[in-house]
Amino acid sequence: MSLMVNIGELTLKNPVMPASGTFGFGLEFKDFFDLKKLGALVVKTITKNPRLGNVPPRVFELSSGLINSIGLANPGWEYFREKILPQIKALHEVLILNIAGESVEEFVFLANEAQKFEEIKALELNVSCPNVKKGGMAFGTDLEALKQIVSAVRKIYRKPIIVKLTPNVTDITIFAKASENAGADALTLINTFTGMVIDVKNKKPLLGNFYGGVSGPAIRPMAIKMVYDCFKAVSIPIIGVGGIDSLDAALEFIMAGATAVQVGSQNLVDPGFLPRLVEQLELYVKDSALGNISELTGIVHRGGEG
Ligand SMILES: Cc1cc2nc3c(=O)[nH]c(=O)nc-3n(C[C@H](O)[C@H](O)[C@H](O)COP(=O)(O)O)c2cc1C
Repeated sequence: MSLMVNIGELTLKNPVMPASGTFGFGLEFKDFFDLKKLGALVVKTITKNPRLGNVPPRVFELSSGLINSIGLANPGWEYFREKILPQIKALHEVLILNIAGESVEEFVFLANEAQKFEEIKALELNVSCPNVKKGGMAFGTDLEALKQIVSAVRKIYRKPIIVKLTPNVTDITIFAKASENAGADALTLINTFTGMVIDVKNKKPLLGNFYGGVSGPAIRPMAIKMVYDCFKAVSIPIIGVGGIDSLDAALEFIMAGATAVQVGSQNLVDPGFLPRLVEQLELYVKDSALGNISELTGIVHRGGEG
């Protein structure tokens, strides 16, 4: 029995990884558990220049998840390269760098830089952040811009490219197919849904940025449908993300068509959830007498069992 999965040319020992932005650079978690237990380490989005992010308040707890308007706050590529990368390269053998840019050139710049570092095994292109005015989700909702970014990065980047899509479109399968045709090796589905919360007492928007991205269990059924639809539309692997807070939730994504899964908001609720999910998946695979977890990928498309 094995939990090993392939994402393009990447071989992961198991399909479990953190979702970008909810796990910092891994340093905050390394004293809680051995990060090597995970399939990969995905770090917070890095941009070319440092970003302060949006005005507070930036995170608000909902009845079934979170709404955030962080706005890609990060220290920028140079600081990451100098100060963070040397500290985190020993944390995991599969380091996935999530990048965003305000232009195609910025994505290409970051991809070029990332290529110089053997320890960075793949890129996750964040074309889907709803909380930034320039770039961000605009790239993930504009088919032409998406194609341009993916093909420009493909031209110069030799390792796996994972495109992280936004759910804030009418038909995500069109964006999934366009990413595949432009050279993506895998897709991450999905980023947050745009939303808004009102402070009724003060009669004004609760978030400093007015709008934010909704995540957590509330979005899971929509995320599952998107994974299910995209599984039919593309032949590259899908990494499923959106509201995973239990073994069953992770299995839902896999059965809908995901090869691997990411956990976001639940890391803020329970920092020990990720390694426990790996253990639970191990037990599940053993008990189900499966040869490999990937036998379950997309099983609902085949009518399930029994
Ligand atoms: C506080 C917070 C910060 C996030 N920051 C990023 C980010 O920097 N880059 C990114 O690609 N996604 C970011 N996301 C989106 C998550 O990676 C994930 O796609 C989304 O939260 C759905 O998963 P979940 O329901 O498990 O949280 C962030 C989400 C949250 C809640």
